[in-house]
Amino acid sequence: MDFKRDFPIFKQRPELVYLDSAATSQKPQIVLEAENTYYEKLNSNIHRSAHFLAEEATLAYEATRQTVADFIGAQKHEIIFTRNATEGINLVARSFGETFLKKGDEVLLSKMEHHSNIVPWLQLKEKIGIVIQYLDIDENGQFIFDGSQVTDKTKFVSLTGMSNILGSIPNLKPIIAAAHTKGAKILIDACQLAVHQSIDVQQLDADFLVFSAHKLYGPTGVGVLYGKEGLLKKIPPFLGGGEMIQEVFEQSFTPADIPHKFEAGTPNIAGVVAFKAAIDYIRQISFDEIQKIENELTTYALEKLSRLPDLTFIGPKKAENRGPVISFTMQGVHPHDIAEGLSQKDICIRAGHHCGQVLMDAWGLPATARISLAFYNTKNDIDQTVKTLEEVHKYFT
Ligand SMILES: Cc1ncc(COP(=O)(O)O)c(C=O)c1O
Repeated sequence: MDFKRDFPIFKQRPELVYLDSAATSQKPQIVLEAENTYYEKLNSNIHRSAHFLAEEATLAYEATRQTVADFIGAQKHEIIFTRNATEGINLVARSFGETFLKKGDEVLLSKMEHHSNIVPWLQLKEKIGIVIQYLDIDENGQFIFDGSQVTDKTKFVSLTGMSNILGSIPNLKPIIAAAHTKGAKILIDACQLAVHQSIDVQQLDADFLVFSAHKLYGPTGVGVLYGKEGLLKKIPPFLGGGEMIQEVFEQSFTPADIPHKFEAGTPNIAGVVAFKAAIDYIRQISFDEIQKIENELTTYALEKLSRLPDLTFIGPKKAENRGPVISFTMQGVHPHDIAEGLSQKDICIRAGHHCGQVLMDAWGLPATARISLAFYNTKNDIDQTVKTLEEVHKYFT
């Protein structure tokens, strides 16, 4: 099946080989249409006006909330729309962190977290003096965890469900269990994971979980924060303004109930409405099918790349316990030169530290080149990339 047909950018740019879906995915026609249709037929502000148009827009916005809740096994009011995953993590670090954490309490992260799951905790450290601890990472991109890293001092654990640098899918279960045994809460950064496999927050027993619509074939400017009902009720609003209040007086206010208390101001209504079309689209294809395609492409890419001279994979070398994200270096060619050389042949990959400087420093790497695949990619995309990589290697060595 040629899924590229569903994505207008490949019609507009037939030469495009897009291998940067971990940064942001391309958007299918139905998502673009949903956003357009919203503006053409429903455009109105939500949750405030009593007129029919506002009511229809509100219904469409809330329908996405239900779809997202069903998508990850949550209750509707446990889903909060943010601008992106980064904002969701900031919300938790501030609202939960400033309420329940105090000087000396430990927050456990891993060395392969995205900066979005490090900097908000460093900011909290500066503000209230928490202590940040890190799990080390083995060469397969798995957390090095034997239980001892979660102690009585650990009050919060915040970990990725899939590494955007290495592509690895770490085993979260023992860490979540250990955290809960000690009474610590856990946030899962599912930015990459949610794109490649179905998630059930009940089964996972995550207290908080975040992801961004734009990596999941939806529009930019929409993020999802899931939080357990009891916890969301206990923590204060992150931003103040319209929509998030019940009553406002000269000297005080009372916040609205969840989820609205966390959605201050006019949200990205059109983006949220269109995100429903993206989720419906991938559910229709099914994660079984998506995984089948992506596993086959990953296996193929690993095999082809491994034949290139001077190429070293950074992270797992096999297709198991991973998503379709492959980092590598090439001796004698800087990753930026690799990306530039590929770009000249219409091939988009990412080079740099991938917002993962802590891992890069720990592993003594200045940068890597990263290929990230989606189910719309083809073996031909990989063949073209490998052929161009051969040329780039020849040119520089
Ligand atoms: C693992 C991971 N976490 C967090 C983020 C941040 O996502 P956003 O920029 O959409 O907030 C990304 C984006 O690359 C990511 O890959």
